[in-house]
Amino acid sequence: MTDILDAEYRTGQIKLHDAAAFEGMRKAGLLAAQCLDMLTPHVVPGAVTGALDDLAREFIVDHGAIPACLGYRGYTKTVCISPNHIVCHGIPGERALREGDIVNIDVTVIVDGWHGDTSRMYGVGPVAPRAKRLVDVTYEALDRGLAMVKPGNRTGDIGHAIQSYVESMRCSVVRDFCGHGLGKVFHDAPNILHFGQRGTGELLRAGMFFTIEPMVNLGKHPVKLLADGWTAVTRDKSLSAQCEHSIGVTETGFEVFTLSPTGQYRPPITVA
Ligand code: MF3
Ligand code: CO
Ligand code: CO
Repeated sequence: MTDILDAEYRTGQIKLHDAAAFEGMRKAGLLAAQCLDMLTPHVVPGAVTGALDDLAREFIVDHGAIPACLGYRGYTKTVCISPNHIVCHGIPGERALREGDIVNIDVTVIVDGWHGDTSRMYGVGPVAPRAKRLVDVTYEALDRGLAMVKPGNRTGDIGHAIQSYVESMRCSVVRDFCGHGLGKVFHDAPNILHFGQRGTGELLRAGMFFTIEPMVNLGKHPVKLLADGWTAVTRDKSLSAQCEHSIGVTETGFEVFTLSPTGQYRPPITVA
């Protein structure tokens, strides 16, 4: 996701893409989804996050694609792995996953210059009921945001749909990171805030590409950045979840580029 304060990669202009660009994004989105599909059976108690990152990198390179995060603004890994109270940008390393963790894995690939950016929540063995509930709320929030995507609506309609639902479920929406335009550029205009007012923000038009990637906390919304400069955690140490799709706006609505071809976008989570 994009740090809202950092606009250095933006031209400021929202690009409108043609049919060939949609075709490019389908390929990139598919490979990103397949990478997360590939990881699913490996997300088990004892799995070392650095080893999951190795699997993702090898998969992407073996498919002739480029791991977009590797070397991106100094990031040294292929994926972000964010368990429990880590909101986003968790850096894979020595940490082993434990039974009961809920964990986000976020991958971005570049295929023929096009970016596919997606993330999912996985349960590591059975998880606490409140952890499963948070994950369910987060996926539903993304769905409600997606449902607002059609020409004539505005980015604020997306944010409002997400925020009003999440808060009605007594959870909170992270403010410090947002979705983003993407295409040949990784983080482009427009910003897609996951909170806001109906009828505000940028007008949606056919041909726009962007991500929706709400981060939802069980507790309050403030986050803090750890000393590594990447890892964002909830200030109150409450659990956080996120899921992300890359989409294109069509004449009638939207197309999701990052759906799992095998229907695994929501890996089943069992409750302890
Ligand atoms: N994939 C993230 C996003 O959704 C970006 C991660 S950038 C990294 O935009 F450098 F942290 F990998
Ligand atoms: Co993103
Ligand atoms: Co992402």
